[in-house]
Amino acid sequence: MVKNNLVEPEANKLSPAQYKSIVKKLNFYYGDFNALRNIDMVLHEKQVTALIGPSGCGKSTFLRCFNRMHDLYTGNRYEGEIILYPDNENILSSHVDPIEVRMRISMVFQKPNPFPKSIYENVAYGLKVRGVKQRAMLEEKVEDALRNAALWDEVKDRLNDLAFNLSGGQQQRLCIARALATDPEILLFDEPTSALDPIATASIEELIADLKNKVTILIVTHNMQQAARVSDYTAYMYLGQLIEFDTTDTIFIKPKNKQTEDYITGRFG
Ligand SMILES: Nc1ncnc2c1ncn2[C@@H]1O[C@H](COP(=O)(O)OP(=O)(O)OP(=O)(O)O)[C@@H](O)[C@H]1O
Ligand SMILES: [Mg+2]
Repeated sequence: MVKNNLVEPEANKLSPAQYKSIVKKLNFYYGDFNALRNIDMVLHEKQVTALIGPSGCGKSTFLRCFNRMHDLYTGNRYEGEIILYPDNENILSSHVDPIEVRMRISMVFQKPNPFPKSIYENVAYGLKVRGVKQRAMLEEKVEDALRNAALWDEVKDRLNDLAFNLSGGQQQRLCIARALATDPEILLFDEPTSALDPIATASIEELIADLKNKVTILIVTHNMQQAARVSDYTAYMYLGQLIEFDTTDTIFIKPKNKQTEDYITGRFG
């Protein structure tokens, strides 16, 4: 295994102010199974970081650590730290409420999963959970989120329609609007376009490019071209380890590690 020397040299070049998060010696266990092994990594503020690697290497497991999704099942265990800046807070600490973490770090899944509610109620949901009650405030936030998800023009006249009546691509943008409504600090995407056609995929990719001005993004993708198109940084994982992390240009043009090169050139296997 390659020694992971990400945090030290990166930290020398940049101040923590440029990081949204630093991951330190992260291990994750499903019962006895050590699914993530000693991961050191950084997330650059308001940049897109892509996670790539073969099926089963731990991409989704890593993503789910960021919003404490694993807490929903017994037997799961974290070791190490995921520190969020500027608060300098370890979100894996048992003192931190996972529900609060999920408000600050939102997830968009592979298949669009709107609630069986109206378009409006889907986006307003997280705000209501947070205690926002004033109608005018809710309406303004819902409109902002739908605009930021590039969906407003298509749905502004049908906000009370059931979300299920939207197309797959629209439903996925609705889920992005729902995730954006609570002003998250990080957006997590787990293969967000793998259930979509090429046109809907292109619109989500465009959206991700726009969103990075507002929020830090971590995206899992199986599609190398997509990683190259949308991300600024790329992490290559294999068997629960982080093999290489660098700018996306370096990973795709001149990776330092042979395993990374074999994977991105399709020689893996
Ligand atoms: N709930 C679970 N209980 C036990 N092991 C699990 C669980 N979920 C995932 N694993 C195992 O953890 C490892 C990492 O799985 P993970 O789903 O993170 O991979 P992935 O990189 O997202 O794969 P894919 O590209 O197929 O989505 C795999 O060996 C998987 O079998
Ligand atoms: Mg996965």
